[in-house]
Amino acid sequence: MTELINLNLKGDSRGSLVAIEDRQIGFAVKRVYYLFGTNMGVARGFHAHRELRQLAVAVAGSCTFILDDGKARRSIRLDDPCLGLPIAAMTWREMIDFSSDCVLLVLASEHYNEADYIRDYDLFRAAVASPALDQPC
Ligand code: TYD
Repeated sequence: MTELINLNLKGDSRGSLVAIEDRQIGFAVKRVYYLFGTNMGVARGFHAHRELRQLAVAVAGSCTFILDDGKARRSIRLDDPCLGLPIAAMTWREMIDFSSDCVLLVLASEHYNEADYIRDYDLFRAAVASPALDQPC
């Protein structure tokens, strides 16, 4: 299962800076997006990606990821801008408990591609069990 990785913190008397390079996260970044202003009680995600790899960082505030690889499910609280959460392909994710100040940065290995999404949990479980049978819609 996924582990949090320590990002490179460059701190000095002026404040903090975090640098993320592809050689640390294992993929070249083709896309960056961020979620902010998430309303209280909202849950997001509820999908997996066939190929996409991602790294999520709560650069401000906090939120909780529920990650499920089809065999086990675990919950990870992101509340530190120096920690990155790698999310492998074929991982079902749900994001909950966003703080009102949460800015969730996501680095992605591919451009946006709706065909890469699996948005149905039962289909996700079936695809994990029988990868050869999985076909994009
Ligand atoms: P959505 O997949 O629902 O976000 P989440 O899984 O975090 O809840 O995406 C919301 C909308 O934004 C949807 O219309 C697709 C669009 N979108 C893009 O155009 N590009 C992107 O990189 C992402 C992540 C989403």
